[in-house]
Amino acid sequence: MSRDATRIGALEARIGEEVLLEGWLYNRRSSGKLEFLLVRDGSGTVQCVAAKAELPGDVFARCSTVTQESSVRVRGLVRADKRAPSGVELTLRDLEILSPSHEYPITPKEHGPDFLLNHRHLWIRSQQQHAILRIRHTLVQACRNWLDEEGFTLADAPIFTPSACEGTTTLFETEYFGEKAYLTQSGQLYNEATAMAFGKSYCFGPTFRAEKSKTRRHLIEFWMVEPEVAFAALEDVMRLIERFIEGIVGRVLAARRVELQILGRDLAALERVKAPFPRLSYEEAARTLRERGLPFEWGTDFGGTDETVLTEGYDRPFFVHRFPAAVKAFYMKRDPLDERLSLSCDLLAPEGYGEIVGGGEREDDLERLVERIGEHRLPQEAFEWYLDLRRYGSVPHSGFGMGIERALSWIAGIEHVRETIPFPRMLNRLKP
Ligand code: 4AD
Ligand code: MG
Repeated sequence: MSRDATRIGALEARIGEEVLLEGWLYNRRSSGKLEFLLVRDGSGTVQCVAAKAELPGDVFARCSTVTQESSVRVRGLVRADKRAPSGVELTLRDLEILSPSHEYPITPKEHGPDFLLNHRHLWIRSQQQHAILRIRHTLVQACRNWLDEEGFTLADAPIFTPSACEGTTTLFETEYFGEKAYLTQSGQLYNEATAMAFGKSYCFGPTFRAEKSKTRRHLIEFWMVEPEVAFAALEDVMRLIERFIEGIVGRVLAARRVELQILGRDLAALERVKAPFPRLSYEEAARTLRERGLPFEWGTDFGGTDETVLTEGYDRPFFVHRFPAAVKAFYMKRDPLDERLSLSCDLLAPEGYGEIVGGGEREDDLERLVERIGEHRLPQEAFEWYLDLRRYGSVPHSGFGMGIERALSWIAGIEHVRETIPFPRMLNRLKP
């Protein structure tokens, strides 16, 4: 931005002044004597009104021919306008076209999802996509700030790892100077080490799953925030999760009301997100599914449809806890009251969204953990460092992971996770 330019988001403080804007032409309407130029600069959109009678002929000629997404510099007088979303309008005095845009591919008409995803690098300029990504920014900030204020230390986990965390079927394998390496599926194992160093720690980074699922909930590359707490049991982490979710939703709601409204989000649904959240055991959830006519079998994991059906009847997020150990990862601690079960929990978002958080209590006993590693056919030597955490002052500890895209889909009311990340990586999509 040039030194003498004003950002559109800051125009309300400049009413009555002449300003210089730098941006792109979002849209243009014409009534012959007047041209209405909608200009965006990333911080907002403002209507600039150009009157033929008041402008030099060459300026008005540019105003009536400037094309969608041309980059422009506009000079004009800021006027208050209650009807405008930004609260202001500009009386245009000069227009400079910096670089014209020819036949911009995304027009106001409807486009299919493939077309839009192929043009993702341009699609993010559109009002709705722009709103989603601004909410994402605020959500990420809210997660970090909330945890920081609660005394968590950020200690990020590596992306190249020597072993699996969430099962071997979704690993991305790569070569690391002659050794086998995998892209991380979760920073959890490293968080367990940092929790023993800091008491409360978290990591926040990209994670990768080679999932052959083509659903509205799955990405190949997604971002996860993962807190971990020493001396915490399953119930402690469920309490942490519900306070965290209430906190971040409240912050997004306070800071991004306008963007949520652009997306047509039902704000009352978000205002209801107050802890405590209902808790449902896996047993109860399984029974509910069968009562609702689904052929659900005890001992299996929930599918997308099961989760959607479970969310019916809840107006806020709710927990399902104590899943069968067989459907969960090797590190889950068993329920002392029923060895078939694990001390795990998922948080399901209402309105059909389903799982947004996965977490639980970790096995803290050395011998039992070694046994699990064997049962899951994982190579013990790759986990020796992890086993050290049980050799040197093991304590009960718990944590969770929240996928930013899943959480954002629900918060912003977006049907498909592909719109909640700037450049989605999906099955069969690596571009742009
Ligand atoms: O339930 P998951 O697999 O749990 C873990 O990875 C734990 N190690 C986290 C922990 O305890 N530190 O994944 C956690 C969350 C899910 O609830 C979901 O929000 C998101 O990560 N997630 C995905 N998001 C988008 N696309 C995918 N393919 C996802 N897989 C998981
Ligand atoms: Mg999960």
